[in-house]
Amino acid sequence: MSYALITGASKGIGKAIAFELAKHNYNILLTARSAELLAQAAEEIKKQYPVTVNFLPLDLSELNAAQKLFNWCVENNFPVSVLANNAGYGLSGSFEKYSVEETTNLLQLNIIAPTQLCRLFIPLLKQQQQSYILNTCSSSAYQAVPLLTVYAASKAYVLKFTRALKHELADTNISVTCLSPGPTDTDWANRAQVSDKILKMAAKLNMTPQQVAVIGVKAMFKKRTEVVTGFINKLGVFMAWLLPDSLVEKSAGKLYK
Ligand SMILES: NC(=O)c1ccc[n+]([C@@H]2O[C@H](COP(=O)([O-])OP(=O)(O)OC[C@H]3O[C@@H](n4cnc5c(N)ncnc54)[C@H](OP(=O)(O)O)[C@@H]3O)[C@@H](O)[C@H]2O)c1
Repeated sequence: MSYALITGASKGIGKAIAFELAKHNYNILLTARSAELLAQAAEEIKKQYPVTVNFLPLDLSELNAAQKLFNWCVENNFPVSVLANNAGYGLSGSFEKYSVEETTNLLQLNIIAPTQLCRLFIPLLKQQQQSYILNTCSSSAYQAVPLLTVYAASKAYVLKFTRALKHELADTNISVTCLSPGPTDTDWANRAQVSDKILKMAAKLNMTPQQVAVIGVKAMFKKRTEVVTGFINKLGVFMAWLLPDSLVEKSAGKLYK
């Protein structure tokens, strides 16, 4: 049986992706920082599905973390055929509100870790019959977002990186998919320190992590390059494509004021 490796799998969308892949008979490899939540998620998955679940607590924003995760998989002979790069977080408010360290940490987790993991795992993924990379992006990737500046830009990188990689790997056994959720009911907004105004607005649009995971995994198996979750988020992406950038960016910025 093949293995699926999911980052940011202790809660939220990543945990839901892990359940969804277990439903599709994949053995599951979980990683995130919280050992306790990972152990709990592993137990819950094993109770529900006849699969093996292993986990590695790791801070993926640390230098060399991707290499440590890769080494763990190689040393344990896990034949990974799904790599789900999902760990990530946002920081809302003015760019200057956050220190250089805080900003760098976000970039490390949202950009460097998934890039390094793709680079490290592609040779392993090539050894399997059919492999998949699922990168969790965001609907915010489709336009610049003032006051969510670094996060939206980091996700724009994930989007462009995933699209290009899809082309590069077109003649291989690896399919690459970008999953772009809009507001989803997880701990994301809390860690991003978004205002009560945004929280109230998001609550009206929120999807559940399970809904997002089902859409993402389905798109991944269909070998789609990208999927935006939900009608409203799709409409937002379409408007961002249709309207002038300056107008879209101005109204996006007003949201986070
Ligand atoms: N929720 C939304 O509205 C939304 C919308 C668009 C895109 N997204 C994207 O969806 C992905 C999942 O987020 P979520 O909404 O599920 O948020 P979440 O509930 O906060 O989950 C984030 C996951 O990432 C892990 N993580 C955070 N920092 C980490 C680090 N330094 N090293 C390793 N793992 C780390 C967390 O576990 P630990 O804390 O245990 O490390 C957790 O498992 C992210 O890439 C996010 O940007 C979310």
